[in-house]
Amino acid sequence: MDFIEMRSDTLTLPTGEMREAMRWADVGDDVYGEDPTVKRLEELAAGKVGKEAAMFVPSGTMGNLLAVMTHCRRGDEIVLESDCHIYYYEVGGLSAVAGVVPRLVSGRNGVLDPDDVTAAIREENIHYAQAACLSIENTHNRGGGTVTPIPAMAALRRVADENGLTVHLDGARIFNAALALGVEAQEIAEHVDSVMFCLSKGLSAPVGSILAGSAEFIRAARKNRKMLGGGMRQAGVLAAAGIIAIEKMVDRLADDHANARSLGLGLAEIPGIAIDLSTVQTNIVGFDVLALGIRAPRFAAELAREGVRVTTRPPSGLRAVLNRHVDSAGVERALGAVATVCSRHRR
Ligand SMILES: Cc1ncc(COP(=O)(O)O)c(C=O)c1O
Repeated sequence: MDFIEMRSDTLTLPTGEMREAMRWADVGDDVYGEDPTVKRLEELAAGKVGKEAAMFVPSGTMGNLLAVMTHCRRGDEIVLESDCHIYYYEVGGLSAVAGVVPRLVSGRNGVLDPDDVTAAIREENIHYAQAACLSIENTHNRGGGTVTPIPAMAALRRVADENGLTVHLDGARIFNAALALGVEAQEIAEHVDSVMFCLSKGLSAPVGSILAGSAEFIRAARKNRKMLGGGMRQAGVLAAAGIIAIEKMVDRLADDHANARSLGLGLAEIPGIAIDLSTVQTNIVGFDVLALGIRAPRFAAELAREGVRVTTRPPSGLRAVLNRHVDSAGVERALGAVATVCSRHRR
């Protein structure tokens, strides 16, 4: 890439080793349960998050939707953080497809306070939708890659138990969370009934996510996956890359975190940029250009002309996501480009 690509870690390309593994993958019809490579991926993935069973799904969005469908009946209520991906970026599937009512609770940079969740869960009343599930996002995308610590995960679990709710984790970036917390992913996932994580983000697989939980939960979710048209046939071609993602690509996420930190610290030095460094905990860096008096889309367009791609959080917020295609030299180049754009607009 001759530009610095920081719009998302979903833009990472499969490694050469992944392509090679895909070429030679043993395959069968996975709807019949006969694809050996998919089975191997699912066993590996379940073990990684300490769950009995796992299922390969085409996307994180489908994994989350299947979790909602499997935990809830139509008309039930799900408690979610108000800026979470399931609510914000998944096309309303939780209501349109799963028939579930969202009950939103504002977190602090995406991190839920257990007391706020307790307050949001209403006692039984004939007028109310039945609260059935609590969903947590760790790391939290719109929060800026922020991490929910283990004691908070445990406290949220207790609130759910006290109120008879199941718990789902949107752990699209669970390995980033684990790295930031200095724990194994299963220490995060042990507080939830189901977890979705993505192979296709920082881990660089071309396609796919995992939904994991109890054997019974995954059996039911598998049927729902078929209903949504997500039953894949010789999917071992894709699963082969997913195996490498889990076995070989997790540890290197530390580089993305270090680069995110350098980028955040550098941005904090540039006049015109506002950044809350306390939110730079993993591979996502959020910053703001309000003081320059221009809107985020214009800033992003000018930055793109300098060879640096980021996404916008209008009106004045921007987001950069570190990934394996951006090294420390790339961070320096990006900082130079930001400084150039800022210098044009400083008043
Ligand atoms: C927190 C979170 N959950 C779920 C998803 C959805 O994943 P996918 O793009 O594979 O549908 C994303 C994607 O960026 C995400 O950031």
